[in-house]
Amino acid sequence: MVGVTAAAAVSCAPWVGRGNKQQADAAATAAMRRLLADLPIAGRVVIGEGEMDEAPMLYIGEEVGNGAGPECDVAVDPLEGTNPLAFGGRNALCVMALGDKGSFLHAPDMYMDKLAVGPQARGVVDLRYPLTENIALVAKALGKPISKVVVAVLDRPRHADLVAKTRTVGATVKLFSDGDIVTALSTCIEDKGVDLLVGRGGSPEGVLAAAGLSCLGGEMQARLVPQTPEEIRRCQEMGVDLDRILRMGDLIGSGEVVFAATGVTDGDLLRGVQYSDAGLVTHSVAMVRSTASMHYIQSVLRDRPLHAEEPIE
Ligand code: FBP
Repeated sequence: MVGVTAAAAVSCAPWVGRGNKQQADAAATAAMRRLLADLPIAGRVVIGEGEMDEAPMLYIGEEVGNGAGPECDVAVDPLEGTNPLAFGGRNALCVMALGDKGSFLHAPDMYMDKLAVGPQARGVVDLRYPLTENIALVAKALGKPISKVVVAVLDRPRHADLVAKTRTVGATVKLFSDGDIVTALSTCIEDKGVDLLVGRGGSPEGVLAAAGLSCLGGEMQARLVPQTPEEIRRCQEMGVDLDRILRMGDLIGSGEVVFAATGVTDGDLLRGVQYSDAGLVTHSVAMVRSTASMHYIQSVLRDRPLHAEEPIE
């Protein structure tokens, strides 16, 4: 899987800072799809680039893998953070997760309200509670004063109320521009300085973050928030109860989950693709739920152009 995400990262890295997020996303998606074909799984994409009629590759329902392995659900975000990639920002990465067949939420591509915490605060917070109460519960679980609790929020006008409420109780707001998968995972890694993630973001990213959190002992809770009549219709077709809080079991099931990501630009979790004299260097992470393990993997690809002048197809 790390080979798959690393190939995607290498393919879109030459587009960093070039202002063209579509081309970057297309390059990452094509590479990911090419490598997925060799993976020994009988996979079906449940979180992907879109519906079959709108996405040519890695669309929802597409079968991937060489068939010589277990049937499984496949969630991909070939390029998470298209904006940071296009404008040279932080935290662009290529991500995928595998789960038991039928275990991942078939989340439609719409917004979702999210709440994520690390292992110590797992089981004590609730998306139905007011944010101020959740902050107090996290403080208690972590054994620190509320003023030391760091709440990460995507920097969007729609989150002004969350920011104001966090400041009302004296907790610290950490605004970030993009990439709520990395920020959700940061709640589980001590030195990343995030205790709680709240706010509205993409639901595909929510399922992928839940996959990673499950390997690290953290927790995600979510609620789909359709914005248009068409999105409401899609939820109804899927039988999704919009009032229901989606918990870990709903998002990713209770079985095995494997998660992999490779950095494209430098970020909080991973460094980006580097062009060194030895070749292209990639930085990846792999996580496994059943072993509660996290592995950092650095790879050097010697047969790649050392200083790519043009985007590599
Ligand atoms: P993309 O890579 O699809 O651009 O997503 C980046 C991201 O920041 C996600 O991490 C987040 O869930 C979502 O965008 C938030 O959406 P919006 O930019 O519409 O607020």
